[in-house]
Order: sequence, then C-alpha cells, then structure tokens
Amino acid sequence: MKKVLITGGAGFIGSHVVRLFLSNHPDYEIYNLDKLTYAGNLENLKDVEGNPNYKFIKGDITDAAFINTLFDENKFGVVIHLAAESHVDRSISNPLEFVTTNVIGTVNLLNAAKKIWDCNKDKPVRQDRIFYHVSTDEVYGSLGETGFFTEQTSYDPQSPYSASKASSDHFVRAYFNTYNLPVVISNCSNNYGANQFPEKLIPLFIHNIRNNKPLPVYGDGKYTRDWLWVVDHARAIDLIMHKGELGETYNIGGFNEWQNIELIKLMCSIMDKKLARKPGESEKLITYIKDRPGHDRRYAIDAAKLNKNLGWKPSVTFEEGLEKTIDWYLANEEWLKHLTSGEYQKYYEQQYAAR
Ligand code: NAD
Ligand code: TYD
Repeated sequence: MKKVLITGGAGFIGSHVVRLFLSNHPDYEIYNLDKLTYAGNLENLKDVEGNPNYKFIKGDITDAAFINTLFDENKFGVVIHLAAESHVDRSISNPLEFVTTNVIGTVNLLNAAKKIWDCNKDKPVRQDRIFYHVSTDEVYGSLGETGFFTEQTSYDPQSPYSASKASSDHFVRAYFNTYNLPVVISNCSNNYGANQFPEKLIPLFIHNIRNNKPLPVYGDGKYTRDWLWVVDHARAIDLIMHKGELGETYNIGGFNEWQNIELIKLMCSIMDKKLARKPGESEKLITYIKDRPGHDRRYAIDAAKLNKNLGWKPSVTFEEGLEKTIDWYLANEEWLKHLTSGEYQKYYEQQYAAR
C-alpha cells in the first residue's frame, strides 16, 4: 500500500485530486489533511468518505509540531501539497496570512518529509519517495499582448498571493538542491469546474447571473486568463507524480486564453439559453467597477513540455468544460446554499468529529 498525503484535499482542486487518486489507484491509501478554512468543504467529498482507502485528518500545516508528529506516525511515501490561501483579492487585504500558510506551511511539510525520508546531500535523491508541490502560473508575473510562460520564464510575482507561492516554489527547489529531497513542481493556469468557492470569477458569475445580480467586471475587462478544467489539472498531477522527473518543473495549461469580458459574455449567452431568457438578457447585468490593484494583464501557459515529454493534453474543449460546469452549479443549488449559510462548516462536526 502506498501512503499518499494530500494537503488541502477539502478545497476546490484538492477534492478533485483526492477523488481521481481513489479511483485511479485502488492500491493507495489516501490521507486528506486540511484545516477546513472558509475554502475547505468536506461536502465536496461526500461521495468518497465511505471509501476504506480514504482518511480525513483535520489539521494545520502551519503547526510544525503537529506536522512532525503526523509524519513520524504515518511515514507517508508521497506528499501532494495543495493546501494554501488561494485568492488574490484576499491576499491584497491580508498578505501575512498568505506568508504564514503558503510559505511557512510549505517549509514545515518539507522539513517533516526530509526527516522521515532521511534526505541529505551525502545520499542520492531517493527515487521511491516524492514531494509534489502544486503551484500557479501567477509566479511568472504578467505578460504583454504576446508570448507564453515556459518553465524557463523568470519569476516576477506581482500580487501578495503570487509572491507567497513563488517563495514556496523557491523553498521546494532549495530542498532539492540542498538536501536531495525528491521534489517535483507544477505551475498551472486558472482552473474552473465543480466545487470552486464562489469568490472566483466563474462560479461567482454563474451564481450572480442566475440570481440577477450585478456582474462586477474589474477595470476595462480586457484582462486575459488561460482556463483549464479542474479535472484535467488533476489528471496532469496524477501523470506528473508517476512519470515526471524529480527536480523538474512542469507548466500545465490548455492553450485556452480568454479576455475576461469575452468569457463573461459567453457565460451570459449559455445561461440565457439554460434559464430560458431572451438573448442578451444576462449581459445587462455586466457592471464595470474599480480595478483590482496590481492586476496582472495577461497569463498564458506554454504546456509543450508536459505534452511532449509525458503525452498530456486536456480531455475536454473549453466549451464542453464550461457547459459541464454551468450545468453542475445549476444542479447543485444546495451546495451553494450551504456555503452562503455557513452550513458547510458544520459538516465536519456532524460527520467526523465524533468518530
Ligand atoms: P482552495 O482555496 O479552494 O483550497 C485550499 C484548501 O487548503 C482548503 O481546503 C483549505 O481549507 C486548505 N488550507 C488552507 N490553509 C490551510 C492550512 N494552514 N492547513 C491545512 N489546510 C489548509 O484552493 P484551490 O483553488 O483548490 O488551490 C489549491 C492549490 O492549487 C493551491 O496551492 C493553489 O495555489 C494552486 N493553484 C490554484 C489554481 C486555481 O485556479 N484555483 C491554479 C493553479 C494553482
Ligand atoms: P480570479 O478568479 O480571482 O482568478 P485570478 O485573479 O487568480 O486570475 O479572477 C480571474 C479574472 O477575473 C481576473 O482578471 C480578475 C477578474 N475578476 C473580475 O473582473 N471580477 C470579479 O469579481 C472577480 C472575482 C475576478
């Protein structure tokens, strides 16, 4: 049995990674370590909680003593690290929380892995262990009208969020170089899909369109993001963990750039059809508002290395993925109601605490 620790598994991407690993690797024991911040929601994993290969652990990666004991007791063979503060707007109002979780939390995990795997520069890099760090394309900063981020692009983070992720990436590489810790890093573009907290663009706007609320577009709306369906990100993580080269970085993206305003108009037109509204009805909700400070103009990932070396490509087109996503949010009103009422935060007490 391979013991795999997934941090942040109750969050958006983490929950898809947990589900995919349980389904693709029935011989693995999956441990989901999550603090259950506002972004952690165990209702995301209701369908797998009875799986005998799945275990949830409530805990905080910033608590070094707790992390060391957890690693000593469980001797994980693989760590897939997703736990983080993940929202740019929140990082602008509270940068320190991002340093604490994203930087210190990551170093705590690196230290614990280094200790139980007995890594140091006098020994070769272990091939039977792996610390997989999940990161973002935002570490590369902002692009102009042309060009793509490759694995060679210099780091140039602009927001407190991306600065904290860049710092954590540097620590992960430093542990490879200094202690021969077996690591791999991936930097992915913007994800979308089921179970994303409705503070991010796509779920927030689906919610607002459905409820006839204003769609707050930052600045001129011509900011560009490269969107990837979350399940395809989880597939890439599975592939890189098993086939990727230790010490390497892989960019993950779908060659799928959209200006915010074009994406918002597409969502409005799909939702007009689904909600039987007149064409153009939902677009009337678009409201331009003050820009986000330090707003990165354009992200675009060159995922050629992942495609060429490991044969990965997205499984759905953007139109298919977006439609699936909109259908999911329309069919799961209960999930969203629990978020807005705070009900989801009681789920742990109801289902787990007493066990
Ligand atoms: P999310 O905010 O939905 O989930 C983060 C999870 O981490 C939550 O379950 C939260 O409870 C947990 N967490 C936070 N602080 C913790 C702590 N101190 N200890 C233990 N658990 C803690 O985030 P997400 O969008 O799923 O992102 C997951 C990872 O992927 C992050 O590292 C993020 O930087 C990275 N990433 C995200 C995107 C994206 O588009 N969302 C793109 C590329 C990379
Ligand atoms: P977001 O989903 O917050 O992801 P990120 O900032 O990590 O890329 O935002 C995606 C884009 O949408 C970004 O350019 C900011 C913009 N945006 C809005 O215009 N209005 C909103 O209410 C939000 C949340 C985002």
